[in-house]
Amino acid sequence: MKRISFEQLNINPITAIRNDWMLITAGNADSFNTMTASWGHIGSLWGSNGGNPTTTIFIRPQRYTKEFVDREDVYTLCFFPDGFKKQLAYLGTVSGRDEDKVAKMGLTPVFEDGYTYFKEASLVLCCRKLYHAPIAEEGFVDPSIVEENYPDRDFHEMYVGKIEKILIAD
Ligand SMILES: Cc1cc2nc3c(=O)[nH]c(=O)nc-3n(C[C@H](O)[C@H](O)[C@H](O)COP(=O)(O)O)c2cc1C
Repeated sequence: MKRISFEQLNINPITAIRNDWMLITAGNADSFNTMTASWGHIGSLWGSNGGNPTTTIFIRPQRYTKEFVDREDVYTLCFFPDGFKKQLAYLGTVSGRDEDKVAKMGLTPVFEDGYTYFKEASLVLCCRKLYHAPIAEEGFVDPSIVEENYPDRDFHEMYVGKIEKILIAD
């Protein structure tokens, strides 16, 4: 992996997240977990000079991965080359509470500077948490979103993280 600046990042964030999916991962060599996500943002928020490069992710309360994202100060977002969709679908269906799904999918965790990511990734965004709060029901301008997405009122929790490091496969 080699480090690039955010100015050098060359992806379509909508297709990368929405269509190709990413893994949200947090933890360390003793314990970590990961899950697939297709909702999220990459952009800029707070700070000076135009703002911090940031990511925003949305995690439902019942996800095992949430325990690790809550426990740690940092998380990573991993994007993969073609050929990993089956693995990502599995990691987004089975819970790490029930089995070692990462080993089963043949992914290789890398533990570096507090971050956990996967050797097979083509792009890794290393993020430090800045903000965490649940999505509030009263904030919805379009109430049909609540009915469609939250019949059990299990609102996602939102995490904003400052992108501290970007790695790409070399
Ligand atoms: C394509 C796809 C996208 C997903 N996006 C999200 C998401 O953005 N937020 C979320 O909380 N769960 C999302 N999920 C569901 C979790 O990945 C899934 O529940 C996973 O098994 C949780 O694993 P864990 O319990 O080990 O954390 C998605 C699943 C798939 C297959």
